[in-house]
Amino acid sequence: MKNATTSFFSSKKTIIKTNTKNTTLKNTKKRMKPSSSKAATAVLQTEHKGGSLISSTSEWNALKEHVKDIEKTHLRDLLKDYNRCENLTLEHDGVYVDYARQRVTEETMEKLYALARASGVKEKINAMFSGEAMNSTENRAVLHVATRAPRSKVINVDGSNVVPDVHDVLDKIKDFSDRVRNGEWVGHTGLPLTDVVCVGIGGSFLGPLFVHTALKTNQSHAADAQGRNLRFLANVDPVDVARALNGLNPETTLVVVVSKTFTTAETMLNARTVRQWIIAALGKEAVSKHMVAVSTNLKLVSEFGIDPKNAFAFWDWVGGRYSVCSAVGMLPLALQYGFETCEQFLKGAWSMDEHFATAEFEKNLPVTLGLISTWNVSFLGCDARAILPYCQALAKLAPHIQQVAMESNGKGVTIDGTPVDYPTGEIDFGEPGTNGQHSFYQLIHQGRVIPCDFIGVIKSQQSVYLKGEIVSNHDELMCNFFAQADALAVGKTPVELRAENCPDTLIPHKTFTGNRPSLSIMLPELNAYTTGQLLSLYEHRVAVQGFVWGLNSFDQWGVELGKVLATRVRATMHDKRNEGKMLDSSDGYNHSTERMLNRYLQGKAQLKYDTPSDVFPCDLINSEECRPPSSYA
Ligand code: F6P
Repeated sequence: MKNATTSFFSSKKTIIKTNTKNTTLKNTKKRMKPSSSKAATAVLQTEHKGGSLISSTSEWNALKEHVKDIEKTHLRDLLKDYNRCENLTLEHDGVYVDYARQRVTEETMEKLYALARASGVKEKINAMFSGEAMNSTENRAVLHVATRAPRSKVINVDGSNVVPDVHDVLDKIKDFSDRVRNGEWVGHTGLPLTDVVCVGIGGSFLGPLFVHTALKTNQSHAADAQGRNLRFLANVDPVDVARALNGLNPETTLVVVVSKTFTTAETMLNARTVRQWIIAALGKEAVSKHMVAVSTNLKLVSEFGIDPKNAFAFWDWVGGRYSVCSAVGMLPLALQYGFETCEQFLKGAWSMDEHFATAEFEKNLPVTLGLISTWNVSFLGCDARAILPYCQALAKLAPHIQQVAMESNGKGVTIDGTPVDYPTGEIDFGEPGTNGQHSFYQLIHQGRVIPCDFIGVIKSQQSVYLKGEIVSNHDELMCNFFAQADALAVGKTPVELRAENCPDTLIPHKTFTGNRPSLSIMLPELNAYTTGQLLSLYEHRVAVQGFVWGLNSFDQWGVELGKVLATRVRATMHDKRNEGKMLDSSDGYNHSTERMLNRYLQGKAQLKYDTPSDVFPCDLINSEECRPPSSYA
């Protein structure tokens, strides 16, 4: 508790401080002591005076009352208030945020900041940065910020500085990626490894994919990646294997198996499949040259057959969906773009981390945005949030934030197990503008109220300016960025329509009620540094929401049940095929599942796999081991 309430940078109990000595690298991997876990849980559980749910506090109730005031306002009018527009903007290190189009007044914001104080948000931020085991259901610290901390920082987990461990791995990534990129590390037949396939799913996929997509069209980063390919294989669907390996030559391909646990069923089957692809073409001895791993479970990496020397570690205090700054993202990205690009990315993330940890709430971007989302979800009753980058290179931001936000805050109980009596989490979705405008914006403008995040950049990665056009192509894109936010907020009234001689019958259809909230985030440009800032902004915003709601935003028990049931189905499927039988009620499935499984098994049994190519992309994998179970035929 002491650490948790200690100010992040200032006190004697400094949690992160500048390391004046050149710390020697040592393996300080340590488990949380139960005592610190208890302390962290206490921070998370005891802040709400007067009840275990935040909804029982006066600060929460004041906001509930305040909803009535806000319901009397319209964004059309609020936007006429010059001072409000001035006040509802924030900026940090080039990241500009305008939240004047949220259904808030200065008074709302004061009440929200009071709610944050009542929820112990500051204490929880400090607990996070100080390595407390605040993920109490897994007894783990929550220290993804340590993965981007500069070498000179000290971040202690139970008295041991973890930053040297982080930089130890980063040094190893730099060394390995340099050698692959300069052709010193070659494949089994002596050819340089120009193609990288990353096998991983969820947090071991979405973050790296988001960053790769953000960087690949940046001209300077693209120049660093010249002649190289980076692909991802996530889904266990064999179609994804075919897509990921299509056209690749095993001789020039490096496979990076990314799995925190090294037990995820889909990833391990895909890893075995790709290993077989290499063995079929190059022989068993090729594996050590063509396969490396990123994991916290180095024992299983070694059992899989990957040389532990070629394994890149991370730690259980890095949550999967928060792991892009660890070797999970840094190894693939260093291989593709060079290590310096990764350093820029980490610096950008750290800039936002420091801001989050030290800036007062009223100037704090992640805190303010987290509170606004909390307001929209729990007080204004908005179930969803649209993430709408006006920047094609951010096409994979929404899928990544879907996992970060929905796996973190999609919870029904608080950290102490009390069922919540208020909505938590939101349904995230999104597409880059302007594509989304021609797809689902109809619903956003005239159907459901969905708070939108508009994200734009000032300098495009690719500038096109056609002679004779009144604006450049990027200006055209950004005109929509500005216009959409106002269309949502201001709307269009029947009076305005009448003034335009709109036929009476069409007036209801052409009316836009407006008053639909959005916020706008503008970056100077999209590069490795600003992508790091954006990532950290969203990660911490999600944490703030969870802190206020009293959740454990760092576990994910909700994904377990489906995995367990799939294990049972897998065993049944295997047994029934071997026995040549169908399921019956004695197998213990409900009748619906029993019928569907039987239909599937019958259908499969009718398929004739007379050549391997009917089974799997065996034009990619040509080996006995890739044939289906013989009982299929
Ligand atoms: O299915 C949920 C999950 O556990 C995610 O939290 C995680 O990012 C993903 O699976 C992949 O896990 P791993 O990196 O251990 O393979």
